[in-house]
Amino acid sequence: MAAPLALGVPLRAEPETHAVEPTAACVSCHGLRGEGRSALDAPRIGGLDAAYVERQLMGWRLGHRDGGVDGVGDAMAALARGLRDDEAVKALAVAVSKQQPPALPPTPAVKGGAEAYTPCAACHGAAAEGVAALHGPALRDQDPAYLRLQLQAFRDGQRGTHPEDTYGQQMAALAAGLDDATIDLLVAHIGALRPPLPEPEPVAITASREEGLAAFADIHAVSTHPRCMNCHPAGDAPLQTDASTPHIMGITRFSPQQGQHCSTCHAVAPVGDGQAPLPPADSLWNMPPAEMGFQGRTAAELCAQLTDPTVNGYRTPTDLAAHVEEDHLLITSWRSGRTPPPLSHPELVERFRTWAAAGAPCPE
Ligand code: HEC
Ligand code: HEC
Ligand code: HEC
Ligand code: HEC
Repeated sequence: MAAPLALGVPLRAEPETHAVEPTAACVSCHGLRGEGRSALDAPRIGGLDAAYVERQLMGWRLGHRDGGVDGVGDAMAALARGLRDDEAVKALAVAVSKQQPPALPPTPAVKGGAEAYTPCAACHGAAAEGVAALHGPALRDQDPAYLRLQLQAFRDGQRGTHPEDTYGQQMAALAAGLDDATIDLLVAHIGALRPPLPEPEPVAITASREEGLAAFADIHAVSTHPRCMNCHPAGDAPLQTDASTPHIMGITRFSPQQGQHCSTCHAVAPVGDGQAPLPPADSLWNMPPAEMGFQGRTAAELCAQLTDPTVNGYRTPTDLAAHVEEDHLLITSWRSGRTPPPLSHPELVERFRTWAAAGAPCPE
């Protein structure tokens, strides 16, 4: 196979994706919904205020914001520097602000948290929902590990030091006196400020347990087929071909940290010399978190995993059926020109609906 052309070349956002959706290179770390990937230290960005997102991207371009604590954001900073121009940054920021990651449930309340958070409320909101007028971003749905790193970065002079970084400087002044214990307390309290999740719509049970279990047996067969499992492996490397061998060139879920974005090769147009084997041509191609792996799961294990909101992206069984019906990545399983899964796409959607309508029963 010829070496894909884009390798080693500083990555530029693809122009055609600017206006409508976050550029392909963002999804391999932040996910299609901007939900973030904690294994890559990539925070949740979907739904953040557009002006805040724009300021961060410009901060990396202008050198106000660096790679963060231990350089976890070096690849992020490099990407932002590679964006075409200010207009591209603006459009990207708007697209990110429109993404809708799942709502998260509140974490348990912590003693002393409310007192510690009092000085923060003016700029970040009483419920940490963000105060756009004062440029304070929303904090409550953010990954706690990320919040901790940012507070330490502001305190330790790694963020908010540049003379032109007016808003970052405000925050740095606030973080100056915080010790690690107070930071932990603040971070724990911020998660507790999330509003409770709405009660899921009651599901009308219209299918029997037997019908639900039969549908789940088919769901298991499809999920563990190479077309699904290759993106949902048990380990860190995506798998390839019908033999589900580890991905060539040592690609893993961590490769984007070295600038090896999935979209570098899985581009819209064929890369390299256009000869087979071509990677599936889809620039939004990315990997789910490790806990969503399907490889080697028994039917009972897969069912437990798909019905656990903390693992399945906070989806009800009905939401899962909708994901299976609409998800762009999943649908590529029938369009890659390779052996398709054992059911058609409409049949799989029907199995998920039947399983949900039976109350999502799990095999023993
Ligand atoms: C290599 C993985 C990776 C890729 C690809 C990536 N990011 Fe990031 N992003 C990160 C990491 C890690 C951080 C946190 C940096 C830090 O801790 O300072 C981050 C932070 C951010 C933030 C700041 C969030 C906040 O709350 O301040 C924004 C906004 C962002 N990324 C947008 C994007 C956009 C838009 C793209 C596509 C052009 C992108 N990222 C691509 C890893 C990535
Ligand atoms: C004077 C207003 C102000 C106060 C008070 C304030 N902040 Fe901030 N904070 C900001 C601004 C503005 C930013 C965004 C800086 C930028 O644009 O880079 C910020 C950013 C942050 C971030 C980074 C968020 C991200 O997504 O990267 C965290 C975390 C944070 N603040 C936590 C706190 C906590 C906790 C307190 C209370 C101890 C606090 N802030 C008090 C204005 C404030
Ligand atoms: C260096 C180029 C390159 C990069 C980077 C890359 N891939 Fe691939 N990928 C390929 C090639 C080439 C194939 C096709 C090989 C074959 O099956 O014949 C492929 C195939 C795959 C397949 C197999 C599809 C199937 O159904 O058989 C998956 C899954 C996959 N890649 C996931 C990813 C993910 C996720 C990323 C980012 C973490 C990624 N790849 C990054 C080149 C790349
Ligand atoms: C290109 C890689 C890719 C392929 C191919 C793929 N998925 Fe996924 N899948 C993902 C990603 C990324 C997520 C996480 C995104 C999210 O939660 O919104 C995900 C999430 C899911 C979820 C919801 C979360 C959970 O509990 O696991 C289900 C269900 C799912 N995929 C089923 C399938 C099925 C069935 C197939 C095959 C027909 C398939 N996927 C093929 C990438 C892929």
